[in-house]
Amino acid sequence: MRRTVIAGNWKMNMTPSQTKAFITELAPMVAGKDKCDIVLCVPFVDIATAVEAAKGSNIHIGAENVHFAESGAYTGEISAKMLCEIGAEYVIVGHSERRTYFGETDETVNLRTKAALAAGLKVILCLGEVKEQRLAGITDEIVSMQTKLDLAGVSAEELKNVIIAYEPVWAIGTGLTATPEQADETCGVIRKTIAALYGEAAAEQITIQYGGSMNDGNAKELLAKTHVDGGLIGGASLKTDKFTAIVNAAN
Ligand code: PGA
Repeated sequence: MRRTVIAGNWKMNMTPSQTKAFITELAPMVAGKDKCDIVLCVPFVDIATAVEAAKGSNIHIGAENVHFAESGAYTGEISAKMLCEIGAEYVIVGHSERRTYFGETDETVNLRTKAALAAGLKVILCLGEVKEQRLAGITDEIVSMQTKLDLAGVSAEELKNVIIAYEPVWAIGTGLTATPEQADETCGVIRKTIAALYGEAAAEQITIQYGGSMNDGNAKELLAKTHVDGGLIGGASLKTDKFTAIVNAAN
């Protein structure tokens, strides 16, 4: 049975003091909800505080990006080793906002993915089509291509530490959600691609999340779908009650 993973993506929100208050409030609300793994991916400067505040709880902490070099002249970047040392367990790679605003390509997403896995981090690999691609009827080709390019050179053993987040770009932060059927269908296409690359057993094992305006109102229906094994949640992960409601929907 594959794990359901409910992960928050805070984006550029929350200071360290807000982080401490948030996690202190959230921890008792999600205590004992063991039918899913619970992750909060937070800004770099919040990670140490988040790890400390989450100690003894079932909340796992991740980063929102990672550089692919081990060290060197990359002003402003953060390495996988740095993340590991301050206690991050997960990292988001390839989020559409990174791809759109910061020039990330499938090539750099692949490099970041491999560097993170080599350091022992769990990767939440984001991919998904833009609106024009869905309207043109090429969603399946796009997500399949991204899956292949972003995972190039990732071994079957390393794949066990990869979660894929299917995030249709048109649904992120827009209030528009893919229908449960659309989410299921496209997550299914990604699973089929994984089967072609790594075999059926690996495809059955891998957690594939849906992301894009998932909230307390639509989570249950989305999570009920066969191929949707969790959610990557932006806006609704910034409120303890809404995030808890999504965790409850997965439980
Ligand atoms: P959203 O963001 O839930 O605010 O749409 C999702 C994401 O960007 O991961």
